[in-house]
Amino acid sequence: MDRRQFMTRTLRCASATAIAGVVPVSLIRVAFAQSQQDFSFACISDAHLQQVRGRQFVARQDRSLMRAVAEINRMQPRPDFVVFGGDLAQLGSSAELDHGADLLSRLHRPVHMVMGEHDYYLDLGEHWRGLFGAPNYSFDHKGVHFIVLNSILTCEAWTLRRWESAERRMAEMTGLDSPRMSPFMVGTAQRQWLQQDLDNTDITTPIVVLSHSPLQKIRKDWNFWTDDADMLQAMLAPFEQVNVLYGHVHQRLHHRIGNIRFDSVEATAWPWPSPQSDRQAGSHLPMLTLSDQAKPNRSATAHWQLVNLHNGRVDVTDAPDVQV
Ligand SMILES: [Fe+2]
Ligand SMILES: [Fe+2]
Repeated sequence: MDRRQFMTRTLRCASATAIAGVVPVSLIRVAFAQSQQDFSFACISDAHLQQVRGRQFVARQDRSLMRAVAEINRMQPRPDFVVFGGDLAQLGSSAELDHGADLLSRLHRPVHMVMGEHDYYLDLGEHWRGLFGAPNYSFDHKGVHFIVLNSILTCEAWTLRRWESAERRMAEMTGLDSPRMSPFMVGTAQRQWLQQDLDNTDITTPIVVLSHSPLQKIRKDWNFWTDDADMLQAMLAPFEQVNVLYGHVHQRLHHRIGNIRFDSVEATAWPWPSPQSDRQAGSHLPMLTLSDQAKPNRSATAHWQLVNLHNGRVDVTDAPDVQV
């Protein structure tokens, strides 16, 4: 795909919200100058499947992911593939991850997986890697270069030496605003891998980066944050067009920094509050410890978000051409 064929420079995100706004599924449409080359892929994220005991799991999270899978299987136009944006499990156990892999296996399209911190901090990703493979990889699809990063790593001292047990380490990562968390980062080894990958990519090739945490610094005390985001942005700066899609924040956020668009994917599990509204009302912060404090911020109708990279605008319209 040469550069002229990508002249429209748009990436359209459709948050197709089905059945009275219960299930957030994003359909990303990549638009080319010649529309017959357009393609789409679906994104879902943050299922947080939680084991109660044995084969019993929290029903609400199960139902939400199962419904998202069913909606994607019914989508027209049919997405080429599906991205799962991380946090498949709540406490990272083998049972939760196996259960999640089983539910995702019902998708009729290929799935590309992203690692979330809830998938990682019990066994440091061992069971997840056994199910889904390496957490950082790249692939090409119809002229677009996709890069998947594991953005939820943190410093070795926190990961390996601070906690008396793996269960305690995992528990410390489950809150929204714990002062004992450590900032996420992609890390040196993965940045070196990314540089090699980018060295083999032409600067005119459109790039889509998939990560769990935002590759930008939104709010550190909630870990809506990746500590080496500045370095990653600098590595991506030479490229003509870069879009980052991420999960983790459990709400829709849209930003642009230079040549890079950042668009989040909502959670199937539950919405987190807006960091902007809570920054303005700082006295709310000490109360924010668990999901029962979350304020729903989902819209009730299906709609498109058209991200226009010419003018940086995000236009939201009804989505009559998406059947969910
Ligand atoms: Fe999450
Ligand atoms: Fe997360």
